[in-house]
Amino acid sequence: SGPELAALVASGTVDVPDFPKPGILFKDLMPLFGDGPTFRKVVDGIVAHHGPDSFDVVAGVEARGFVVAAAIAYAVGIGVVPIRKAGKLPRPAFSATYDLEYGEATLEVHEGAFVPGQRVLVVDDVLATGGTAGAALDLVERAGGTVAGFTVLMELDFLKGRERLSPRSVHALLTV
Ligand code: PRP
Repeated sequence: SGPELAALVASGTVDVPDFPKPGILFKDLMPLFGDGPTFRKVVDGIVAHHGPDSFDVVAGVEARGFVVAAAIAYAVGIGVVPIRKAGKLPRPAFSATYDLEYGEATLEVHEGAFVPGQRVLVVDDVLATGGTAGAALDLVERAGGTVAGFTVLMELDFLKGRERLSPRSVHALLTV
């Protein structure tokens, strides 16, 4: 159920003060990833929420988004496309630079990563300011995909990332 999944995300998260910069309270979901039964319930919960027939491929945002995206793709039996930090992709790529809560960053995705019109579920672990997600969503569309939705384990409501992504659909298992 929704409340059960939200509680699993909360209990699998460790708050780390002053990482990666002073004043930032970092939400570390690695304990959740490391717990097999919890990780499986969370991944199955995401698939059940969206419905396994509502998307054709999964896109994951480096680095923690890779973990969740690959698990979703495997569970459904479809492919996964990595959206990477700058300079990591070997072939020609689209690039998007965005402001982060703590600095600036660039994401990239291979040109032709998606079959035109393919429905893409875009996945990350945390939605904070929405800068990362906004760049990822733009890249998916530039690379030929159709965004079916954006899904995260945790949304930090006070940073208003969801507003930046409007009108696209955003789902979070836990909103804090
Ligand atoms: C974190 C998180 C999201 C992003 C959310 O990634 O995993 O990708 O920040 O922040 P935003 O909504 O304000 O853009 P991070 O930059 O720490 O990258 P990493 O997973 O590669 O360490």
